Parts: sequence; C-alpha cells; structure tokens
Amino acid sequence: MIDTHCHLNIDRIYEKIELVLKEAKEANVNKIIVPGFDLESSKLALEIAKKYDNCYAAIGFHPTEIKGYDEEYAWLEMAAKEDCVVAIGECGFDFHWDTTTKEEQIEAFIKQIEIAKRVKKPLIIHAREANQITFDTLKKHDASVVGGVLHAYAGSLELAKEYTKMNFCFGIGGVITFKNASSLPSVVKEIDLKYLITETDSPYITPVPFRGKENAPKYIPYIVEKIASIKEIDQEEVIKQVQQNVLKLFKI
Ligand code: NI
Repeated sequence: MIDTHCHLNIDRIYEKIELVLKEAKEANVNKIIVPGFDLESSKLALEIAKKYDNCYAAIGFHPTEIKGYDEEYAWLEMAAKEDCVVAIGECGFDFHWDTTTKEEQIEAFIKQIEIAKRVKKPLIIHAREANQITFDTLKKHDASVVGGVLHAYAGSLELAKEYTKMNFCFGIGGVITFKNASSLPSVVKEIDLKYLITETDSPYITPVPFRGKENAPKYIPYIVEKIASIKEIDQEEVIKQVQQNVLKLFKI
C-alpha cells in the first residue's frame, strides 16, 4: 500500500521517523511521498527521500506560506530536477486563512504550475475553500500536460468529473471515514478507481476509529478498506489499482 501524502517532514513526526516507517512497513505501507509546504520542509522532504529508499519527495510552497518568496522559486526549479523528487507541491489555493492575498496566491500557484511543466513532473494540489478557482487556474495554464492529484479533495462530483478529463486524480484520506464527509463518498463511489489514490496527510486528518490521535502512514489500510466498501469491491483490487495509478502518475 502507498501513502501519497505524508508529512514526515514535520518536526513532531520527523523526530520519530524510524518508528513511523517501521510501523508503516508492518502495516504493509511500502511507499511514502513526503510533500513540502515551504522552503525548509521541502528541503527536509528531499533529505528524507535521499536517506530512505521507500520515501519520495514532493517539493513546493503551500499558498499560506509564500509571503515574500522570490529566490525560493529558483531553488524549487533546480531541486525539482532531482530523481527523488516525484512531484511539485503541495501548492494551490487556501482562502480559509488570510496570511496571503488572493493575488499573491495566484502568482505563486502559476509559478509552480509552470515549473512543473518545465521539469515534467505532476502537481500535488491543496485547495481549501477554493474549488472553482483551483480548477480554472489549472485549466487556463494547461496543467493537464503534467496532471497531478487533488490532495484531500473537497469539491463536488461534477467538478471531479471535469478533473478526470484533465488528467487529475484524487487523494483519498481520513475524511472518507468521517460521518460528515459531504460529497466525498459520492466522488469515491462514482469516479473510476483509476483516478483514486490513497493518502493520510499525517499528522493531520486521522481516520476513524483513531480520531483524536496523531495520524500516521500505518493507517492507510483503513482508507483502502473504506474505498473498497463504498465501491463494493475487494480491498485487493483497490490496492492493485492504486499501485498502478501511482506508478503512472509519479513513476514510482
Ligand atoms: Ni499536506
């Protein structure tokens, strides 16, 4: 199994990374993508990917972290060419917080879409309270040539169908196990399995029945189980297809 979004690069997880990786392995979670969200966490993601064979880096700047960033984009493009970097992100829009303006977020997102296209790597997208503008920006800037994943997708089924036409898939995580998962169960039910991948977003969004505890990649089997039960298929089928999807998208 695979965790395509796991912040091993956050201090409180990084300080016990050996244990987290050991427990992931025991739960048959064998590949982990570590996304950066600012310069420091992207550098640490890269370091982790170089040190641990089963870890891969995504590097990028989260929309709330881009204030004053300039030279950082040159580093991003240079580092993005490294083999252990499998994606650009997480990047996108977040209008829940107001640490950065809409204009700053648009500029930062477009820069990262263009970098992804130049280095020919997919995007890991964060979109909070920004479903339509995220879609419109990706479409306007031809992000379909690299594709990517909508991490923690929170949009409608209709928008999800449009995304599949643009070469984007959906990161399914702990939210799918919540009672108030809004439109996500219908997305998981109706969208073809070849567009779904698994993620935890550790240390956040811990799945039921562990809510309140810190999230970890070892909980991926609970996501697999939930997807299988919603789609009324075997867990083995989910595991196999997600492996193929991840291979196609991230080349790992
Ligand atoms: Ni994240």
